[in-house]
Amino acid sequence: MVVPTRLLALSLFTYLALATPISSLDSRDLLVHESREILPIGFSLVGPAPSQTPLKLRIALSQSNPDSIVAALLNVSDPSSDTYGQHLSKSQVEALVAPSSQSVSAVKAWLQQHGLTATAASPAGDWLQIDTDVSKANSLLAADFSTFTHSASGIETVRTLSYSIPAALKDHIDLIHPTTAFPEAIKTTGLTKRAIHAPILPRAADTQCANGTTPACLQQLYNIPTTPATNPSNKLAVTGRIGNYAHYNWLQSFLQNFRPDMDSATNFTVTSVDGGQNHQTGPSVSEGELDIQYTVGIATNVPVDYVVIGRNWTDDGLNGYLDEINYLLSLEHPPQVLSTSYGYAETSMSYALTDKLCKAYAQLGARGVSILFASGDSGVGCQNSNATLFEPTFPSNCPWVTSVGGTAGHAPEIAWDGSSGGFSNYYPAPSYQASAVDNFLTAHAASANFNATKGKYNPVGRGFPDIAAKADDYRIWEGEVASIYGTSASTPVFASIVALINDCLSVRGKPPMGFLNPWLYSTGKGAFTDITAGNNSIECNGETAGFEAIEGWDPVTGLGTPDFNKLLTAAGL
Ligand SMILES: *[C@@H]1O[C@H](CO)[C@@H](O)[C@H](O)[C@H]1NC(C)=O
Ligand SMILES: *[C@@H]1O[C@H](CO)[C@@H](O)[C@H](O)[C@H]1NC(C)=O
Ligand SMILES: *[C@@H]1O[C@H](CO)[C@@H](O)[C@H](O)[C@H]1NC(C)=O
Ligand SMILES: *[C@@H]1O[C@H](CO)[C@@H](O)[C@H](O)[C@H]1NC(C)=O
Ligand SMILES: *[C@@H]1O[C@H](CO)[C@@H](O)[C@H](O)[C@H]1NC(C)=O
Ligand SMILES: *[C@@H]1O[C@H](CO)[C@@H](O)[C@H](O)[C@H]1NC(C)=O
Ligand SMILES: *[C@@H]1O[C@H](CO)[C@@H](O)[C@H](O)[C@H]1NC(C)=O
Repeated sequence: MVVPTRLLALSLFTYLALATPISSLDSRDLLVHESREILPIGFSLVGPAPSQTPLKLRIALSQSNPDSIVAALLNVSDPSSDTYGQHLSKSQVEALVAPSSQSVSAVKAWLQQHGLTATAASPAGDWLQIDTDVSKANSLLAADFSTFTHSASGIETVRTLSYSIPAALKDHIDLIHPTTAFPEAIKTTGLTKRAIHAPILPRAADTQCANGTTPACLQQLYNIPTTPATNPSNKLAVTGRIGNYAHYNWLQSFLQNFRPDMDSATNFTVTSVDGGQNHQTGPSVSEGELDIQYTVGIATNVPVDYVVIGRNWTDDGLNGYLDEINYLLSLEHPPQVLSTSYGYAETSMSYALTDKLCKAYAQLGARGVSILFASGDSGVGCQNSNATLFEPTFPSNCPWVTSVGGTAGHAPEIAWDGSSGGFSNYYPAPSYQASAVDNFLTAHAASANFNATKGKYNPVGRGFPDIAAKADDYRIWEGEVASIYGTSASTPVFASIVALINDCLSVRGKPPMGFLNPWLYSTGKGAFTDITAGNNSIECNGETAGFEAIEGWDPVTGLGTPDFNKLLTAAGL
């Protein structure tokens, strides 16, 4: 996973007090809708933004029944439900999440009064977009759009510390973005690369894992078949962000070296969202190569689409993710699995913003798509040097996606020390995992780490990761062999396993796995090898503490690592 890295997690989120400018309210019926009093650490005010600076604003409209999409998701994803597997169509999902026609017309009329035209920014019409500039936005929203700079990265951004909307629209608008939410300073490389031939754990010479983690090693560990998938409409999508792409010719060399049994011309397609680039001649950006080599090279013959998201206005936490999900939601037949090895610190976005995306994932899940996110590479994370709280990651904090943690070694695997895990401070534990989390908390209360972790996590929060896969010493090809570590690697591998299961299901005329979690924690849990050693402790305020991998679910390796044959049986095949 690219962000947060350990360093980033340690340095973020110290707050700098800043006087809140009092926007002059030009009309008595305007009400402050969102505001913030402090700037995120590292940002400082440069001055007022030039009035002609273009601004694209997105307006999230209130939904008539915001919880119905989650109810529908659980209806089709819980094996004990009568409607398990009866995934919703595009139009059924859109009908559930569409705003009321009153909301749409009230908001459009307000914009029209200001000479602005809104376009739909999502298939269901729950997001509108306006193209405007700083001076018009300041007057529309009684805002004070200013230029802020992030000193370490040099990122300049235009934001306002407060904005208002007419009182009459209060119940029609959830939020407007980007306004008070600041972008996270993104690094382009956060993967842990280590020298080859320096294993951190001893390797057994007699296994396929003797020379590092390769497709043969993973196939042996997890019983992944080498036989090609047969259904061309069973697809796997892989997310590319922050300038990543994957070389076609390096994939070919990877397959020649590590999957000699496969046709080395096996390829992937690229879909560009927001101007995402498909450079083929630039230097290695290991994340992209890894994600493609360990999907095409594991999910044998499953069509892989690399969804590459452009950078220009998407590096703000929300927009890139939202545009990707809206692209997938716009398809009548979206790929049945989505693998993403990127993420943020949970605190980098407000709950309101996070939840917009989380509910968009619920929409895609209700359509039968399995959505997998890397849990992160920062262990439990640390919100600041005074260690008030651990730092959960987004989108793994979202209860409606599946979070993949990491393991290391083999025979047996143990927790990879970087595997991010813990408990969301935003979301309560969903019912599907309540008893698994309770069992862990009871055991943790008696563990040596209990006192050092107490008060740093939310014991009633959504626990993550849900499952895990190997995260150490992956061999990739980027002109030469390189060794990569991280949950960035675990995620495409598990995504490939789900895609291969879906292929088997489709051959029998059965629906795809869809949103996995309610199944994972019930019918599916026996298909995972429990990881019972290791931890994800990191140093926080001078104290090194975190969680331990123990018997049963834990916030380090979740339910454990997959066994393909057992998964097939649990899926009824
Ligand atoms: C940490 O605590 C010290 C002493 O109380 C305080 O001066 C400092 O501002 C705190 N730092 C952060 C990042 O909260
Ligand atoms: C969920 O299933 C129940 C029982 O089958 C049904 O009454 C309810 O309408 C469903 N909810 C949604 C949002 O589909
Ligand atoms: C590992 O590398 C050694 C030395 O090159 C080789 O003899 C052995 O066959 C390799 N093992 C595997 C499982 O690839
Ligand atoms: C993979 O597809 C790309 C884009 O169509 C093409 O340029 C490349 O030659 C293909 N690679 C192979 C091995 O066929
Ligand atoms: C992004 O911005 C850069 C520099 O402003 C520009 O050269 C490039 O064309 C833009 N790309 C897209 C996809 O808008
Ligand atoms: C935690 O600290 C309390 C008070 O110091 C002590 O009684 C208790 O045994 C400690 N718990 C563990 C699990 O070490
Ligand atoms: C975490 O695991 C490592 C390696 O197994 C061990 O050395 C360390 O003592 C453990 N740390 C904690 C705080 O449990």
